Amino acid sequence: MELFDNLMDSIAEQSYGVVDFFLTSEEISALVVTLRERHSAGSFKKAGIGQGNDQHVQAQIRGDQILWLDEHSTVVVEQVYFQKINTLIQCLNRSCYLGLKDFELHYALYPIGTFYKRHLDRFKTDSHRKISIICYLNEDWQAADGGELVIYLPGNQPIKIAPFGGRLVCFEADLLEHEVLPATHERLSLTGWLRTY
Ligand code: OGA
Ligand code: MN
Repeated sequence: MELFDNLMDSIAEQSYGVVDFFLTSEEISALVVTLRERHSAGSFKKAGIGQGNDQHVQAQIRGDQILWLDEHSTVVVEQVYFQKINTLIQCLNRSCYLGLKDFELHYALYPIGTFYKRHLDRFKTDSHRKISIICYLNEDWQAADGGELVIYLPGNQPIKIAPFGGRLVCFEADLLEHEVLPATHERLSLTGWLRTY
């Protein structure tokens, strides 16, 4: 798929890549409506650190609130998103031989001023997360609003990526440390992982 041509090269060469306009503005709006409905209904939870029994909230490390998506969702725009991710998986498997089989996704909402300190996504006990994928849902985001994703490339200057709506960022989950900087607006995204099972 042409949309992903640069992404495949970029991931192969640098372990990360960015695709702008992964979502249309209509898709972004529809996802934001769904996110806001669920957030107002109190369905979001403060994100934890670690897995299982280890899970505890640490606002000094991360301040986002999350809601996991249901793969059987009947919300049309969520199904559209799942299809796009499946297409991405096929491209990655064809170009990079990653053996991806499944994905998991959650909405994330960072209240104003919150952040996620430098970290690696892959849990010690879950080595099946190969690629981290984040798609931003911020309509009318300005560069001055902050909230950049910083990716730390070994032996290189860190890269700062602004969370513009519709932009997709992918990187190798077990390789690249990264962090989320605080923003002057609420920062919305769909975040997830492509898994080998
Ligand atoms: C995460 C994360 C980055 C972002 O949720 O693990 O690093 O830009 N998110 O939201
Ligand atoms: Mn992360």
